[in-house]
Amino acid sequence: MSSWFKQFRYRLRRRPHFENATEQLKSLEGRYRTPEARLAIPFEYKGKGFFKSIKPMQSRDEITRFFSHIMELRPQCVVEIGTCHGGTLYMWCQAATPDALIVSIDLPEGEYGGGYPPERIPLYESFAQPGQRLKLLRGDSHTRETLEQLETALGGQKVDFLFIDGDHRYEGVRADFDSYSRLVRPGGIIALHDILERPAQPDLEVHRFWSELRQQYSTVEFIERAPDQRKIGLGLVRC
Ligand SMILES: C[S@@+](CC[C@H](N)C(=O)[O-])C[C@H]1O[C@@H](n2cnc3c(N)ncnc32)[C@H](O)[C@@H]1O
Repeated sequence: MSSWFKQFRYRLRRRPHFENATEQLKSLEGRYRTPEARLAIPFEYKGKGFFKSIKPMQSRDEITRFFSHIMELRPQCVVEIGTCHGGTLYMWCQAATPDALIVSIDLPEGEYGGGYPPERIPLYESFAQPGQRLKLLRGDSHTRETLEQLETALGGQKVDFLFIDGDHRYEGVRADFDSYSRLVRPGGIIALHDILERPAQPDLEVHRFWSELRQQYSTVEFIERAPDQRKIGLGLVRC
């Protein structure tokens, strides 16, 4: 069988899965009408093939409490580091203004989640509301190139909300904060995921950096016990 035919057959198979995904999102959005209610959607959605899940890698109770602060902010410009399955990206599109710019950065096959295959790009693009602009940057957040791509996308616009959920090592999260926090406007919000120590996973070191941030900024912590008793922790920094 020629490789062209294989590709063609493969695409034909993928298409119904994509259509199923967008139809399901539309139907869930019809059921859940407000942005607050739509927080449930990425947890409830169940797709097929490449579009199997958009489940956030978050504690539902923590992100629910945190989300009310983002709704209050109504960001016009959001930058996320760590797209992965697109769960939090979906949420930010709901919380942002109808004319917002939303940029999500992920390193293909990156640590702490593994990124996403290019086949998922159209699904993520479908998260944006009609007047919103959504830009997906696929690269290492620590490189100058990615930062420059982001600055081009922003075109001088200041960021209202920066979500840091990429590299979870101490040096990694610190580098993201140092490089990207200067793009956030005074009065904006920066949030870090995984602020609690996890003794079973010593390479997750966000907690070390978080304890430094707490000394320097006004912060709020969202820490709730999940049904499996795990606590992960989301930390908010006010700029
Ligand atoms: C925990 S997941 C993000 C989860 C997502 N925010 C959610 O809850 O829906 C972390 C993601 O960060 C990405 N990542 C890791 N290191 C990175 C880096 N240096 N630059 C960009 N992305 C990175 C990984 O590829 C992974 O997809």
